[in-house]
Amino acid sequence: MNVLFVCTGNICRSPLAEGILREKFRRDKISGMVDSCGFESFHAGDSPDSRAQTVARKHGIDISAHHSRLFNVADFDLFDHIYVMDSSHYHSVMRVARNEADREKVDYLMNVQYPGTNSPVRDPWYDNLAAFERVYDQLDPVCEAIVAAAKRGKP
Ligand code: 4NP
Repeated sequence: MNVLFVCTGNICRSPLAEGILREKFRRDKISGMVDSCGFESFHAGDSPDSRAQTVARKHGIDISAHHSRLFNVADFDLFDHIYVMDSSHYHSVMRVARNEADREKVDYLMNVQYPGTNSPVRDPWYDNLAAFERVYDQLDPVCEAIVAAAKRGKP
């Protein structure tokens, strides 16, 4: 199962989600590509925000090697699931989808845990370290739900 996470700057939420899911895939020997990207170029090429790295490290996850990159239409060909953090990314990704097969890959990340709610993972960028901890606490169970779906054989 190849999974792509999408947020705005690709330095806070999506690289954290990528690190969490990659660690769970490693733990449970699930094969698949896990990556993340953004829709704004302000931070293209940058490492994850230091607060995201701190929170990840606290949980034994190293996300320092990631470099922010932009979403690319070719991502539709590489990934089975494209999970967005909020409605702005949802509309951005859907706008560049080429066909129904592309659109079917796109969903709000939180819908994996709470189907149909379209609830957001809120942007912690302007907030403090505690906000990044809350993002981690939100991302960890939903990434576990992705793992459970992968184990059930959901493509
Ligand atoms: P992210 O957070 O989308 O979770 O990586 C943000 C990072 C930077 C900005 C916005 C959101 N920014 O406006 O620079």
